[in-house]
Formats: sequence, C-alpha cells, structure tokens
Amino acid sequence: MSYETILVEQRGAATLVTLNRPQALNALNSQILSELLDAMKAFDADPSQGCAVITGSEKAFAAGADIKEMQAQGFADMYGHDFFAGWDVFTRTRKPIIAAVSGYALGGGCELAMMCDFILAGDNAKFGQPEIKLAVSPGMGGSQRLTRAVGKAKAMEMCLTGRMMDAQEAERAGLVSRILPAGELVEEAVKTAQAIAGMAPLAVLANKEMVNAAFETSLAQGVAFERRLFHALFGTADQKEGMTAFVEKRPGNWTGK
Ligand code: HXC
Repeated sequence: MSYETILVEQRGAATLVTLNRPQALNALNSQILSELLDAMKAFDADPSQGCAVITGSEKAFAAGADIKEMQAQGFADMYGHDFFAGWDVFTRTRKPIIAAVSGYALGGGCELAMMCDFILAGDNAKFGQPEIKLAVSPGMGGSQRLTRAVGKAKAMEMCLTGRMMDAQEAERAGLVSRILPAGELVEEAVKTAQAIAGMAPLAVLANKEMVNAAFETSLAQGVAFERRLFHALFGTADQKEGMTAFVEKRPGNWTGK
C-alpha cells in the first residue's frame, strides 16, 4: 500500500513512521488512522523489523484528532460507527513502538503518544488535552492513560483546563521517559529502537506484554503473569544462547526461537 499521510522507512531493524500532514499539523483524520494501522500491521508481521518509532514534525507530533472532520458529525455518526474504535487496533501491535514527540502533542496527538510503549520528548514538546475548549473530551483514551501516567491531580487539571505541559514537566510527572534536544530526537529514537530490535525477539514481546499487564491486573495477578512469562522464556533457544553468550563473553546471536 502506498501512503499519502505518513512516511515509512526501514532503518536496519527499526521502522520509522513519520506523520505527514504538515498543512494540518498532523491532525489525525480517518486516512492517517487507516494508513497507520496498515503500516503497523505490516511492521508487526515483518520478521526483519523489531521496533518502531512514530514521529511528526519539529512543530507538531500531532495537534489532535481532525477537528474539521469531526465538526459536522452528530451522535448517531459517532456512536453508530464507534468513531475512534480503530485506535484500539493500534494498541494491539505486539512489537514495541516509541513515540518521538517534538512540538505539539495535543488531544488525539497526546493520546496517540500515550498509546505507544514509551515517549521520548524533544525539549520543545508540549502535551495537552484541550478538547474541553471544543466542548468535548478526550476520546482516544486520554482521560484514562494520562491519569495512569501522571496521576489524578495533573490529569484532572489538564482535562478540565486544557493547559499544556512542557517537556520538563512531562518528564517530572512520568509521562515521558527522557528529554532530548529536538534536533537529535528522531536519530536518538531510531538508535533506541535499533537497540531494542537487537534484543531476542521473544523476550522483547514478553517484556512489553508484562509491563502492559501492570495496567490491567492486581499486583498479585501481575506478578504471577510476569513469573509465568519469565518461566516460558526458559523454553526458548535464545535464553540458552543469551546466557551462554554471557558466560563466553560474546554478544548473543538470536534465532527468535
Ligand atoms: C484540524 C487542525 C488541527 C486539528 C491544527 N489544524 N490543529 N486542523 N484539526 N486538530 C490546522 C489549522 O486549522 C491550520 O490550518 C493549520 O493546522 C495550522 O494551525 P494554526 O492554528 O494556524 O497554527 P498555530 O497558530 O501555530 O497553532 C497551533 C495549535 C493550534 C496551538 C496547535 O493549531 C490548535 O490549537 N490546534 C487545535 C488543538 C486541539 O484542540 N486539539 C484537540 C482536537 S480534538 P488552516 O488551513 O485552517 O490554516 C481531539 C480529540 C477529540 O484531538 C476527541 C473528541 C471526540
């Protein structure tokens, strides 16, 4: 499939996806959603690819869902078609996805960044859920994921006022894992993705799955789930290789088995 609203590039074992609707500050419309879902499906299915990076432009990661597309929609259109349900498919991508956020990540843009597995922020990044100013609310998981990431106080304030958080505040609050100079963000994110893609593939899937389980389970259930996956990894050839390589003081050579 050829894309009009995203650019997809393979950099070794890392897939770099760039949102590319500069005229609308990468506002997320139906086309960008369907192209992104197609690209992520292809990424997940491609054994040569181990980790993806999603980025936007230096000015905007994404300035939200596309307001012009939603403006004329009524309740029957939105509820009847379960508008935004496609984004749930995005979150079922099994391999890791890093959001590399420069500039605005607002509304659906902030929500997309939070659907990724972690966020690397440029020092110019701004996060916000300004939907209330449009007389609506987050609709792609923002009220839930932001609250889990930064706690009730900040999430509630941001949703009720539409105030933006800068990169420093976002890092202090635990929304982003690291801040990088905006000009180096994408290259650093790709290097991080390549490093992840260089790990044993089944261990990568298992680590992502168990961290995500922390959001869905009690502590006891989560710890039990982790232990079972940890046990399961001892059934892989790569576990034998990884531990043998350590003892022999050489890098591991993974088969993905
Ligand atoms: C459609 C958008 C857009 C959006 C920007 N544009 N954001 N188009 N949907 N979310 C378009 C503008 O209309 C304009 O195009 C062009 O991008 C450049 O934007 P400007 O506003 O001229 O740029 P600037 O003055 O630099 O301001 C940047 C900005 C502002 C602060 C990010 O654009 C802004 O506030 N955008 C909206 C942010 C927002 O409310 N996001 C939440 C959306 S709702 P034209 O052609 O007009 O000049 C959402 C979830 C909805 O995400 C869930 C409810 C169902």
